[in-house]
Amino acid sequence: MSNGILKGKKGIISGALDSNSIAWKIAEKAHAEGAEIVLTNAPVALRLGTINELAEKTNSIVIPADATSEEDINNLLDQSVERFGGKIDFILHSIGMSINVRKKKEYADIKYDWMQKTFDISAISFHKFMQCAFKKDCINEWGSILGLSYIAAQRTFPDYGEMAQSKALLESFARSFGYYWAKKNNVRVNTVSQSPTLTTAGKGIGGFQDFFSYSNKMSPLGNAPAEACADYCVSLFSDYTRYVTMQNLYHDGGFSNMGMAPEVLES
Ligand SMILES: NC(=O)c1ccc[n+]([C@@H]2O[C@H](COP(=O)([O-])OP(=O)(O)OC[C@H]3O[C@@H](n4cnc5c(N)ncnc54)[C@H](O)[C@@H]3O)[C@@H](O)[C@H]2O)c1
Repeated sequence: MSNGILKGKKGIISGALDSNSIAWKIAEKAHAEGAEIVLTNAPVALRLGTINELAEKTNSIVIPADATSEEDINNLLDQSVERFGGKIDFILHSIGMSINVRKKKEYADIKYDWMQKTFDISAISFHKFMQCAFKKDCINEWGSILGLSYIAAQRTFPDYGEMAQSKALLESFARSFGYYWAKKNNVRVNTVSQSPTLTTAGKGIGGFQDFFSYSNKMSPLGNAPAEACADYCVSLFSDYTRYVTMQNLYHDGGFSNMGMAPEVLES
C-alpha cells in the first residue's frame, strides 16, 4: 500500500538502530510514500547498529548526531538543508534511553545524575531539536515535528522507572513548543503514544515480555505493531493532518481507554 502522500517532502528521521526500531519502519514507509529522508543516530549507535543498510534501502544518507549536543543537532540541520537543497518538512524524534532502568536501579533508589542524563537524552533533546530548527528557521510552512511517547506519562507502570517522567516531559514540550511553531509558520508538533513494541529500547524494560502479553490482552485491537505506527506517523507528516497540533495521540489498539478486559481475567 503506497499512495505517494509524502511526495516532494523532505524529512529527518532519528533513532533507527536496527530493523526492529520503530524509526526503521517509519523511514521505510516515508521513503515508500515518496519522501526524501536523512537518517541520524548517536555516533556510538552507528557503530553498533545496522543503519547503513537502511540508508541504502531508502536512498538516504546518515548524519551522526548525539541528541544531547546542540552542536551536533545544528550540524545535522545544516547538512540536511544542504542535502535537500531547501528547508525541511518533517522531523521524527524517536530517541529514548534510561540509565537507571538499564542499570536495574529501583525507582526508590535512583541515581540523580543518571536521571538527568535520561531526561537529557529522552526528552530535552526534543526541545533541542525544536529550538535549533526554530532559530535556523529551517522548517517549511505546514511542516510536522513528531516525538514517540508511552502511556506511562499518564499512568503508573512500575518497571518503566524514570522513563515515565521523560515521556511526561516530552509530551509537555510538544504542547508548549507547538504554540510557538504554529504561530511562527503553521508547523505542527505532536507525540504518538505507541503500544509496547519489541525493540532494543522496549526489551530493556524489566518483565517486558509478560507485560507485552498483558497489554496485548488489554487492548481490544491488540498491541499496535511498529509497521502500523509507521503508517500513522506518515499520515502525521502528510498534508492530511495539517490542523492536528499540540496533541498526544494514542496509537495503542484501544489500551488507553480500557478499564477491565475479560481476556486478562481469564488468563
Ligand atoms: N519499544 C516500545 O515499547 C516503545 C513504546 C512506546 C514508545 N517508544 C519510544 O519509541 C522511541 C524509539 O524507541 P524504539 O522502541 O524504536 O527502540 P530503539 O532502541 O530501536 O530506538 C531508540 C533509539 O534511541 C537512540 N539514542 C539513544 N541515545 C541517543 C543519543 N544520545 N542521541 C541520539 N540517539 C540516541 C538509540 O541509538 C536508538 O536508535 C523511543 O522514544 C521510545 O521510548 C517505544
